[in-house]
Amino acid sequence: MGRYIVNGGRRLFGTARVQGSKNAALPILAASVLCGGESVIDNCPDISDAANTVDILRTLGARVEVSGGSVTVDAEGDIGSAVPPRLMEAMRSSVIFLGALAARTGEADVVCPGGCELGPRPIDMHIDALKRMGCEITEERGHLRLSARHGLSGCEIELPYPSVGASENIILAAVEAKGETVIKNAAREPEICDLADYLKAAGADIEGAGSGTVYIRGVSSLKGPRHRIMPDRIAAATLLCAAAATGGEIMLKDVRPDDIRSVTGLLERAGCVTDIKENSVRLASCGRLRGAGLVETAPYPGFPTDAQAVLMAALCTAEGESVIRETVFCGRFRHVDALRRMGADIEISGDRATVRGVGRLCGARMRCPDLRAGAALCIAALAADGQSIIEDTYHIDRGYESFAGELAALGADIKEERT
Ligand code: EPZ
Repeated sequence: MGRYIVNGGRRLFGTARVQGSKNAALPILAASVLCGGESVIDNCPDISDAANTVDILRTLGARVEVSGGSVTVDAEGDIGSAVPPRLMEAMRSSVIFLGALAARTGEADVVCPGGCELGPRPIDMHIDALKRMGCEITEERGHLRLSARHGLSGCEIELPYPSVGASENIILAAVEAKGETVIKNAAREPEICDLADYLKAAGADIEGAGSGTVYIRGVSSLKGPRHRIMPDRIAAATLLCAAAATGGEIMLKDVRPDDIRSVTGLLERAGCVTDIKENSVRLASCGRLRGAGLVETAPYPGFPTDAQAVLMAALCTAEGESVIRETVFCGRFRHVDALRRMGADIEISGDRATVRGVGRLCGARMRCPDLRAGAALCIAALAADGQSIIEDTYHIDRGYESFAGELAALGADIKEERT
């Protein structure tokens, strides 16, 4: 299950290269089942969610080779339509195979996805949209069966919320559907643009990705392209918050500064100094952070919910108060109990967490509740006095490439034990 032993109090210094984006790689890997020939996907992160997605592709019948950071997928042959429950339940993003399989095989036999426990993770928007495009979908005790006997037809879909996954599922179902699909109130996250770039390189006709309205005109076939996954903006935000929390100075390379503008802006508000170039971000935290005032998570380009926990960890020892409002997921404060155990002063009221900065945190024994909460506990441990032991770090392995190794390379006293 994995554990970290952290001796806190060390500042982080040095240069780190940002990994490929988990949340771009997962939908792009799923999309590869739509393509003839071979897709070569470079800069794919070496994380367990990506490995799980490769397992799903192989189980469906695709030939997949993983070499270093490149994944080659050949989905020319027969592709099945059933994803084993243990693979579906391992992560949330497996839901993207609904749209991919509807488009490729005209049917899907899956169970409701798993993933981080961030509160209810409904997929009603996915289901409603796919039904609008011609799918018949039945659900029985979490078991979903989809059939598109007459193929998929484009239509206009207005999402009640700019859901990332629902936007992605609709795009995958639409790229070879009959006619045009228009997604209104689509998610604007950079990962949507990366997925669209991959599909356009394969021959898809997509316009407006990254804006609130996406137009997809169905084409007859797609041919696997070579595509490089974008940098992981949340991994970048995590390392910046770790440097801010420890009073260090780091340089991030292979990062897209525009993707994390809301994060660097907030850290500057909290007292950090940044030097932002085209593909790099340097951040220095000289002394104690300042309270950040009101921080509200929001769909892109707002402050990302995935960086909320790691920011909170950094603000626990700031001078002054920060109020963090989590507007995307109702259950995303699972890191708070452990932070309090380390001495943090955090009060929860509904969707708001009021963080009153304390002078120091003290190391403690903790368990990772989920991926980003686990990273947050690690950041707090780096800044704390004394030793922390963090169990169940397999959660962190889902989204970060060798997280402990990367922090150690920046000067952290952190050891990973495989248990
Ligand atoms: C994606 O999840 C990301 N995961 C999440 O990152 C990220 O936090 C989230 O987008 C928001 O940016 C991947 O890309 C693999 P949503 P997704 O659909 O698609 C509600 C991480 O840490 N909703 O945009 O599941 C939903 O409950 C992960 O890397 C419905 O009500 O997020 C939530 O409140 C965690 N019905 C809100 O919308 C639906 O049918 C946003 O969810 C779909 C969503």
